[in-house]
Amino acid sequence: MRQKLEEIRKNAEAALAGTSSLDELDAIRVKYLGKKGELTAVLKQMGGLSPEERPVVGQIANEIREHIQAHIDEKVAELKSAQREARLMSETIDVTLPGEECAVGHRHPLSIVLDEVKEIFQGMGFDIISGPEVELDYYNFEALNIPKDHPARDTQDTFYITDNILLRTQTSPCQIRAMEERKPPLRVISPGRVYRSDAVDATHSPLFHQIEGLVVDEGITMSDLKGTLDTLAKKLYGPETKTRFRPHHFPFTEPSCEVDVSCFKCGGKGCSMCKGEGWIEILGAGMVHPKVLQNGGIDPEKYSGFAFGLGLERLVMFRFDLDDMRMLYENDVRFLEQF
Ligand code: PHE
Repeated sequence: MRQKLEEIRKNAEAALAGTSSLDELDAIRVKYLGKKGELTAVLKQMGGLSPEERPVVGQIANEIREHIQAHIDEKVAELKSAQREARLMSETIDVTLPGEECAVGHRHPLSIVLDEVKEIFQGMGFDIISGPEVELDYYNFEALNIPKDHPARDTQDTFYITDNILLRTQTSPCQIRAMEERKPPLRVISPGRVYRSDAVDATHSPLFHQIEGLVVDEGITMSDLKGTLDTLAKKLYGPETKTRFRPHHFPFTEPSCEVDVSCFKCGGKGCSMCKGEGWIEILGAGMVHPKVLQNGGIDPEKYSGFAFGLGLERLVMFRFDLDDMRMLYENDVRFLEQF
């Protein structure tokens, strides 16, 4: 019987040496260690042994079982690690390729314009940061000077997850997060998805994109804001582009403004693109409210700053003369392959 056990051990070892797949390993386990396996079959005959011999043979059988099992485990680990390695190799990406380009070289219009905006701001020394889309009420509203009962909340129909957690309605919470994480001088843009409980139509979507900008340093004034946004407009729409700053109100900036650019289609004469106005609104902006600086841990006596929020979809629609925002989300190849 001992001889039989020894034979099983040898055979199992030999079989294990030649395996190259997890299936083969499992087959070996079943063949030798399984309920109907060879080792079990031998043990079933142990009743015929003398009482002295039984425990000795039992012990040997247990050792052989453990030995084979350990060997199988080792092989499984080896194979799994090799498989993981192979998968990682095949998943390697070329980081020099432009983002999200499809196999035949098309890029989504949102990506095209976002990359342009990023490049313009990087050229002016801005860092690119990002913030969470599932956000705390504190960052999305409270810290931005919009308390619980503030009417400004009504203009942003919000997807709440709990009373304190929501899908961010704007990228402005990144202002607070940036101030918490960094010290002035601070120059960042933060692009990303935002959500509002709006019904879908040609100019509304419950999911859209904003690009937040924030600059904080000593001695920042409205003229820095105007210079920066004027540069953005000229780089986006050409050197002849003019900007117009209209007074507006946002709870987290003071003073606040909305910024228009002269219509890039008619140059300001009035056309269908600008609805006869000669101007097209592209963003909201203002000087960071002292309370907001304070909420971000920055001393408003020493520092000042400006912030702005661009709607990416609007920029894209004007840029490519689209009249329906839904085209950006429907993944219709006839649309996408034009870019
Ligand atoms: N968050 C504002 C909006 O969604 C835009 C904005 C950003 C205004 C930064 C001023 C400063 O309408």
